Amino acid sequence: MQAARPPAVLLHLKYMQRPTLPQVRALLDVVNLSKSFGGHQVVKQVSFVLQAGVIGGLIGPNGAGKTTLFNCLTGFMPAQSGSVHLDGRSIGGLSSSAVFAAGLARTFQIPRPFPEMTVLDNVMLAPRGQIGERFWNNWLQPSRVTAQERQTREAARYWLDFVGLSTLETQAARILSGGQRKLLELARVMVAQPKLVLLDEPAAGVNPALLDQIVDKVRVLNAQGTTFLIIEHNMDLVASLCDPVMVMAQGQLLITGTAQTVLNDPQVVQAYLGSPA
Ligand SMILES: Nc1ncnc2c1ncn2[C@@H]1O[C@H](COP(=O)(O)OP(=O)(O)O)[C@@H](O)[C@H]1O
Ligand SMILES: [Mg+2]
Repeated sequence: MQAARPPAVLLHLKYMQRPTLPQVRALLDVVNLSKSFGGHQVVKQVSFVLQAGVIGGLIGPNGAGKTTLFNCLTGFMPAQSGSVHLDGRSIGGLSSSAVFAAGLARTFQIPRPFPEMTVLDNVMLAPRGQIGERFWNNWLQPSRVTAQERQTREAARYWLDFVGLSTLETQAARILSGGQRKLLELARVMVAQPKLVLLDEPAAGVNPALLDQIVDKVRVLNAQGTTFLIIEHNMDLVASLCDPVMVMAQGQLLITGTAQTVLNDPQVVQAYLGSPA
């Protein structure tokens, strides 16, 4: 008897599908996201897709709603309406820690480490759902807890070394400069190995030498598979690092394209200059 073969129709389908297999996949899919504060709508029906593997940029004048959009995407604020999917999974309405656990991490425009805790302890705070956080496990399985703490410490040290802060690990976080705090935040979120990292103004208040380091680290992480979306006012950084670039003004996305395209767009120039008097 002949060996079983896949039915011809399946072979045909397989063949047919191969050329159209997606080379890129939508990692973040946002549809009609809105948010208002006391009747003032600051994010208006925002929809966009971010492909896996990119370093996207989000630019726009102050007050455009960029940080609020990040807050809604990451569960730090409830959106009023709209949907958010990460890698095909709905994350709309989840708490910030559940969003983080799902693989979407963010850093803050103004980093806020625990100032009296050491640099290392600040980084070790990141992973959620550690066994040691649960009392009963702590009591019943001390060896498992110790092993997990050791793993977390190793990971935290790895990422501190990656961002160049190893020598400061025993120092209190309050001694860190603005740029070092941004690097600390990057290390802290990387411990959880997120799929997508949202950076809110990584260049703000950072000296040029440290800024080069931050840019360099983002490039390396991206090459290793982490996707980024970056809010930034430093247009040199945006132009050299980000593609695609999305422009937001008055709560709406105006245009998406390469940095060169969007920065030369008259709508965008107008949004930055404000309405003529
Ligand atoms: N927690 C809040 N409560 C009330 N209004 C807010 C809050 N956060 C932001 N806003 C307002 O929403 C608008 C957009 O702010 P934001 O998202 O911070 O803009 P961007 O990050 O683009 O500068 C601004 O008018 C700001 O004052
Ligand atoms: Mg902001």
